[in-house]
Amino acid sequence: MAMVSTPATGEIHAALSGDEVQRIRNDFPVLEQEVNGKRLVYLDSGATSQNPRSVLEAEQEFYELRNAAVHRGAHHLAVQATDAFEDARATVAAFVGVRDDELVWTANATAGLNLLAYSFSNASVGTVGSAAARFTLGPGDEVLVTEMEHHANLIPWQELCRRTGAALKFIPIDDDGALRLEEARRLVTGRTKVLSFTHASNVLGTINPVSELVPMAREVGALVVLDACQSAPHLPLDLKALDVDFAVFSGHKMLAPTGIGAVYGRKELLDAMPPFLTGGSMITTVTMEEAQYLPSPQRFEAGTQPISQAVALAAAANYLRETGMQRIAGWEAVLGERLVAGLGAIDGVRVLGPAAGRERLGLAAFDVDGVHAHDVGQYLDSLGIAVRVGHHCAQPLHRRLGLTATTRASTYLYNTTEEVDMLIDAVAQVRPYFGAVTAGAAK
Ligand code: ALA
Repeated sequence: MAMVSTPATGEIHAALSGDEVQRIRNDFPVLEQEVNGKRLVYLDSGATSQNPRSVLEAEQEFYELRNAAVHRGAHHLAVQATDAFEDARATVAAFVGVRDDELVWTANATAGLNLLAYSFSNASVGTVGSAAARFTLGPGDEVLVTEMEHHANLIPWQELCRRTGAALKFIPIDDDGALRLEEARRLVTGRTKVLSFTHASNVLGTINPVSELVPMAREVGALVVLDACQSAPHLPLDLKALDVDFAVFSGHKMLAPTGIGAVYGRKELLDAMPPFLTGGSMITTVTMEEAQYLPSPQRFEAGTQPISQAVALAAAANYLRETGMQRIAGWEAVLGERLVAGLGAIDGVRVLGPAAGRERLGLAAFDVDGVHAHDVGQYLDSLGIAVRVGHHCAQPLHRRLGLTATTRASTYLYNTTEEVDMLIDAVAQVRPYFGAVTAGAAK
């Protein structure tokens, strides 16, 4: 059993063992299938993860035994459904280290970031009272992001700035995919109202230094938003200890179904913030002229919620907790190191992000010289290996690195070292394979 330094915490812990990973794989029915005549090698968990049986069963059991609308009925099933929904909130809140009344359900991280950006812009129209004043933005104010954001943590802020007249700034990266902290120190000023950054890059694998960035924002009174959609599934996460004001994550990247995610917000901030979506279940009193709103989290949960998905996300959080996030992070560090070392040793392959031996997530995006990422992806698919190709919803980052598209292999707790080696062996064949096709076509 390997002892490894857990990314982001630096603590030394035992990683999962190869035997445990084999047992984990048995919990994931989708991994049993063949693709193109080969056993599926699923290396696209950065885009979406697979579901263990306990998660699938939790969702099915909800529909078989408890299905009803929550917070709006007095009958037996309505009570059962409401209890299941709120128990799920408590489980997921505990998983990320926050109070259950500080966790708002959303469809995914993108919806969560839009919720925040639209709530801030609702505060900025000036009709919502003084409690919301701290969320107000206007000309002269700035929103600060980083150059490594995926579009979900970029475009909502672009649109917020367009609506309010605030300016969008970004912290640049260096060529190894690390944030340039000296630039961050220069860019965080009294004008900065919001600092929003990814905890871990979906392309580079870089894990950002939250403990260095948060104090910069605190010094100038800026709100801190953490995009945790690549960290909540893969790293031990304690949002209170990280001291951020808000955070978002998606269930489907952490063993749960699609359609469920969450926003964490400090309770006093959530209660002062104007809502984004309005309608049923988020109000106290409504007249034909106006409405009064419930405190958070209900204030942000208008309409019928993704109830079975929330229950399934709680089952996913339990699965991850019982397996052990330190041990999962440790195993993925082993896989990530193997990926970077193996891919980096192939002639003509450029791996993005931190070099071998440096802390990163268990993923690697890479460029194969002379072969388009889509061709790489199709070649790998022909061998049963699933990866993501394209810009990974991070066009500005690719542009910064002089690329338009890359191939990304991303691991999770169910991937084995043999699978990583199969990918590396296959990538080693890509340039010869396409070179042979070109030579043949020219004859
Ligand atoms: N976060 C999504 C991915 O990395 C965009 O695939």
